[in-house]
Amino acid sequence: MNGEMDFESRIVASGYTPEDTNIELSLRPQQLDDYIGQEKVKENLRIYIEAAKNRGEPLDHVLLYGPPGLGKTTLAGIIANEMGVNFRVTSGPAIEKPGDLAALLTNLNDGDVLFVDEIHRLSRAVEEVLYPAMEDNALDIIIGKGPSARSIRLDLKRFTLIGATTRAGQLSAPLRDRFGVIFRLELYTPEELSGIVKRSAGILNIEADDEGALEIASRSRGTPRIANRLLKRARDFAQVFSHGKIDLESAQLALNRLEIDELGLDNVDRLLLSSIIKFYKGGPVGLETIAAAIGEEAVTIEDVYEPYLMQIGFLSRTPRGRTVTPAGYAHLGIPMDGQQKLF
Ligand code: ADE
Repeated sequence: MNGEMDFESRIVASGYTPEDTNIELSLRPQQLDDYIGQEKVKENLRIYIEAAKNRGEPLDHVLLYGPPGLGKTTLAGIIANEMGVNFRVTSGPAIEKPGDLAALLTNLNDGDVLFVDEIHRLSRAVEEVLYPAMEDNALDIIIGKGPSARSIRLDLKRFTLIGATTRAGQLSAPLRDRFGVIFRLELYTPEELSGIVKRSAGILNIEADDEGALEIASRSRGTPRIANRLLKRARDFAQVFSHGKIDLESAQLALNRLEIDELGLDNVDRLLLSSIIKFYKGGPVGLETIAAAIGEEAVTIEDVYEPYLMQIGFLSRTPRGRTVTPAGYAHLGIPMDGQQKLF
């Protein structure tokens, strides 16, 4: 089973890991034209960017949400680049006190993009500072304590806040309402991911043919970050076993060795499905219950594992809990008649 493999070390973890830093920086597209997929988002974004530039105004505040690894930070960087302004990056947990945010805001130049990753994790007190900043480009500062305390208002430069979150539902309503533009990023199709793999292979000087790229793409759970990571691992196997070229055969070899099956499921995905079947007759079972059963956090299951399992129709969310679908049973080779033969 899956005892020693935690979420952080999964090769198909869609969360960000330190090893991704260098690859992501070099592979990150700088222009909207180089960004593959998310067609509807790009189409509208192009218009908003052009219109804002023509008016000589910053772009309206943008909220990007969707599962991890889909390129929210990349897209935010592209927006800043296309607008021709600085790109300042921070995250919800990094802004501990209202003063931290005030320092960031007062250091922005006119029109800059401030990117706040995991914006759902801002504290209430910090959010309060954000509201007048987003609405009126103003910072309200309280001076003094007790009855003599008073508030003074500082003007800020005009700026664009880009917030990113995996959980739009956890955003407070007042914060959500202050974003003029809200985009939901979708999981990528294998064809889009194949395009990303080929582009990355070109940048990293890796030889990959169409079939090899598509094989990696179809096992990347709809997620560019996973595709780029698998590409690097596939290169290692290709180097040792097949003269460095990633073709169908060497890609399959690599992915099989990594125990990523033909649909991109790894041990944890299979454990999640098989545990629901084995212990809860296929469901419905509550999220917290199944999280405890497999030793993962409920939020991790919800953000990282479930989106793809639901997209491929192996898992469904019902009001009474999670249920494995007939297709999910079939993929694991478990009959649905109750007398289950596991693995
Ligand atoms: N790298 C990560 N996401 C990407 C995307 N959507 N297009 C191109 N390269 C990417």
